[in-house]
Amino acid sequence: MQDWKLFLAPYSQAVEELKIKLKGIREQYKIQSIHSPIEYITGRVKPIHSIIEKAKRKNISLDDIEENLYDIAGVRMVCQFKDDIDYVIHLLRKRKDFEIVEERDYIHHKKDSGYRSYHIVIRYPVETINGTKHIFVEIQIRTLAMNFWATIEHSLNYKYHGQIPKDIQNRLLRASEAASQLDEEMSIIREEVQEAQRIFLHKEENE
Ligand code: GTP
Ligand code: MG
Repeated sequence: MQDWKLFLAPYSQAVEELKIKLKGIREQYKIQSIHSPIEYITGRVKPIHSIIEKAKRKNISLDDIEENLYDIAGVRMVCQFKDDIDYVIHLLRKRKDFEIVEERDYIHHKKDSGYRSYHIVIRYPVETINGTKHIFVEIQIRTLAMNFWATIEHSLNYKYHGQIPKDIQNRLLRASEAASQLDEEMSIIREEVQEAQRIFLHKEENE
């Protein structure tokens, strides 16, 4: 257990640092009263039992998880609009404080489950008392609608131990389609939504 604590310490360090850094992007937009491409950011270190379960499922020895499990540290960036995702990806690719090692586009290639999201795996340097340690962090970028769907599907998977009944699976697929449509509609009326928000913020400031 002490070993796990030691092993996971740089991962929580990385998650905390990245949350602060990436929240900084949001703040910079807010200061300038420009629509922020980021609605909110969350992060977590994978619980030990999930790490063990996933290593087993993927046939990875616990000695090799450092190199082979990319999502021990995870950060999620949630956006209002689909276009915001492209912009966030662009911002991440420009950064100098980490290296991108993998990108997975589950938006243009949604999963069979109906899951949509953009995943970027980075190699992030953490300063430890023993020197610099590079660790993998999985960044998931999604819209509010994609996140809503994924959250519900994740709970159902948990409830049904990964064996969601077929009729509910089908309903989830339809819900995923509906979430896609919502994202499309919102993109189309984006300009109007932004204008409404500007007026709202302006009104709030004057109150
Ligand atoms: P696992 O899906 O955990 O086996 O990870 P992987 O190494 O195959 O990578 P993948 O890119 O498929 O998924 C990484 C992460 O994306 C998962 O840990 C989940 O957080 C999320 N994810 C992937 N597929 C789904 C899905 O069908 N539903 C939900 N809710 N989340 C998913
Ligand atoms: Mg998978």
